[in-house]
Amino acid sequence: MTSGITRLEGKVALVTGAARGMGRAIARRLASEGARVVIGDILDELAARTAAEIVADGNDARAMKLDVTSYDEAAAVTERIEREVGPLEILINNAGWDKAELFVESDPASWEKVIAINYRGVLNCCRAAAPRMQARGHGKIVSMSSDAGRVGSSTEAVYAGCKAAIIGFSKTLARELARHHVNVNVVCAGPTDTALLREAFIGREKVLDALARAIPFGRLGTPEDVVGAIAFFASSDADFITGQVLSVSGGLTMAG
Ligand SMILES: NC(=O)c1ccc[n+]([C@@H]2O[C@H](COP(=O)([O-])OP(=O)(O)OC[C@H]3O[C@@H](n4cnc5c(N)ncnc54)[C@H](O)[C@@H]3O)[C@@H](O)[C@H]2O)c1
Repeated sequence: MTSGITRLEGKVALVTGAARGMGRAIARRLASEGARVVIGDILDELAARTAAEIVADGNDARAMKLDVTSYDEAAAVTERIEREVGPLEILINNAGWDKAELFVESDPASWEKVIAINYRGVLNCCRAAAPRMQARGHGKIVSMSSDAGRVGSSTEAVYAGCKAAIIGFSKTLARELARHHVNVNVVCAGPTDTALLREAFIGREKVLDALARAIPFGRLGTPEDVVGAIAFFASSDADFITGQVLSVSGGLTMAG
């Protein structure tokens, strides 16, 4: 199945954390617009299944095992993509993880895991991919942040800090890479119905219902809600847009 839009025809895209959830939906959308998609995830069996689904739809995808917390793995996967698929033109930093807990009850070991996946993972993948994009004079980097990083979110202090860090980092990288025509933008998802969200609200489903009611559109997001914003930033339609932050959250937060 194709989207009928071919603006990403032949472009090689790495989507991290694309075995399931929003990453899976993003990979499917980019591939449907013609991209040659690489799914980088620690869940290698599920990643292979997602890639196979995309191929069965007549589009282009493959899975490569990637733990974004390791710079060496990010560099090796980037190198492998360039060797086996082609020049990496699109990087979607989507991999993420969270553990719901009050900050005063949290311990440094859990901060480490949250920071390693959500923030250092973005640094690792950008450090591996950006020099190649810079040398070629074009590229698109889109990172998944969260409305938690813009306005805070109870039980997600360290995660929200990482998501805010992604915004400051991306704006700086956008400035540094603009002269090389590499665009760096951020999408902030709001509460979106995925395994990650469900796991965070186990035993607190009523809170999730209340959250859905607080969203002006009156519902949680779906993985498909976010794909259009990502595909737009990944495309030449966004060639003159960099350092920007777009919330896809049914109006939960509205920038001034
Ligand atoms: N679901 C929400 O409500 C919500 C809201 C705002 C932002 N986000 C962000 O959206 C992104 C996608 O989340 P989701 O809700 O689809 O979650 P999900 O758990 O369904 O998917 C996350 C994916 O990331 C992968 N991943 C985790 N650690 C990894 C690592 N070290 N290396 C490579 N891959 C790894 C997982 O295996 C999984 O496939 C995350 O960055 C998350 O923080 C989610």
